[in-house]
Amino acid sequence: MDLGPNESRVLKFLQESSKPSIEESDITIVGMSRQEISAAVSWLEVKGILTTTKSEVRIWKLGDEGRRYLETGLPELRALKILREKGTLAVRDLMNSFGAEGRIALAQLAKFGMKPANGLLACPAEVERIFSEISKRQDSLSKIESGSVSKEVLDNFKSRETLLQELKHTVRSVTLTKIGKSATISEQSGNLIDEVTPEIISSHAWDNRGFRKYNLNAPVERTFSSYYHPLGSLIRRVRDIFLRMGFTEMTGHYVEYAGWNMDSLFIPQDHAARDMQDTFYLDAKVNPPYEHEESLPIFSKVHEHGIHGYSGWEYNFSESESRRLLLRTHTTVSTIRYLYEHRNAPQAMFSVEKVFRHESVDWKHLAELHQVEGAVYSKNANLSTLKWLMREFYAQLGFTDLELIPSYYPYTEPSMDVVARIDGKELELGGSGVFRPEVTKAIGLKYPVIAWGLGLERLAMTIFGLKDIREIYTSDIEWLRNFKARF
Ligand code: PHE
Repeated sequence: MDLGPNESRVLKFLQESSKPSIEESDITIVGMSRQEISAAVSWLEVKGILTTTKSEVRIWKLGDEGRRYLETGLPELRALKILREKGTLAVRDLMNSFGAEGRIALAQLAKFGMKPANGLLACPAEVERIFSEISKRQDSLSKIESGSVSKEVLDNFKSRETLLQELKHTVRSVTLTKIGKSATISEQSGNLIDEVTPEIISSHAWDNRGFRKYNLNAPVERTFSSYYHPLGSLIRRVRDIFLRMGFTEMTGHYVEYAGWNMDSLFIPQDHAARDMQDTFYLDAKVNPPYEHEESLPIFSKVHEHGIHGYSGWEYNFSESESRRLLLRTHTTVSTIRYLYEHRNAPQAMFSVEKVFRHESVDWKHLAELHQVEGAVYSKNANLSTLKWLMREFYAQLGFTDLELIPSYYPYTEPSMDVVARIDGKELELGGSGVFRPEVTKAIGLKYPVIAWGLGLERLAMTIFGLKDIREIYTSDIEWLRNFKARF
């Protein structure tokens, strides 16, 4: 058995004690504080050397009233003294000189059969017996804390409001187990070094004294340090995947112009998704100057007449519609802005940022969610590259069963939805595709752009094993504390 020096000393004390069971407070060892003894007892218990039992004991101490009587004397004693001396005592005089304590004196004396008649207390025949009994009470006041007070006196004191004060405390009794009784305390174990200090190192004390072993099974209290929120951890993981593949991270803004969020992506101005039902518009009295004003005529022309070989939407484009402010509905706005500003190929970029949608929130929908956005602009980018990228990205997160389904977005052709199959169920992950020439050619891009916008929270829900998407944000403390990243 590997015992530390303190444990060895406590064990030695217990083995030498004649009592089978002993209160912890009766263990006294020179040079050891109560805390050290207590800690050693706990360790010895963990190691099976001893068992402890706790019991609650009540002790009585003098209360305010009791402490006062210790100095002035119990009111009944003082009253009886006067009575013994003078033979009689008028209740009115008693009240005048004793104040509130007069009533107490009367009540206590009444218990000895002394009751006033016609406002007068008379000295009873057995005054000496009563006097000696009350004197004993008085003496008991100073003995309360030692516990050597008769039950009768204690009952009397307890019935008197603040004469006594009750204190409860727990007493730990210690009993050696079989192992503990027969354990031998090696000279060594008491001598083992359990704390390395500069002195021990420089004095070479460790040459002939061993080191105490670490107990790796020692019970410790769990501490909860601060850590990334599960969603934060997942975002870091996603960023990591794209950064390792050589993508550049792009950042954007919550507030966008409809022009960049939609027009630049060839989303017609009367598209249903632009509706107030789907998009949060800002009620701005004064719009800030449009960013890249020169782009507006370009988008206007594409919407109205298309580009060479494509007819456009053939309606009247409204620039004031483009200038409206909204909360971005997708991060594809970051992609198109990035490409507008970086027109040299190749480019590969991504972002993991928040978007806003006018959704009614339920177990499957949030109005604020993150999108994993990305795009590759390259001579060699094509649908196969996109399919490979989607499979590779999700495989790195542990999702290998993907389905890529033909779909539609106004800005991509072909378009492809990414669906994961998990335990027989299908999980829609997001959209992707190859940007239409109306989007790329219009801003002078020569090569294909493959792009995607994938929901993060749905994925997170599956990874975290949550039944309700809202739980990601309710931050249940138990969930947060016990969360272990598995991605
Ligand atoms: N922006 C689309 C969405 O919000 C996703 C998407 C991104 C689709 C890029 C095609 C290309 O769902």
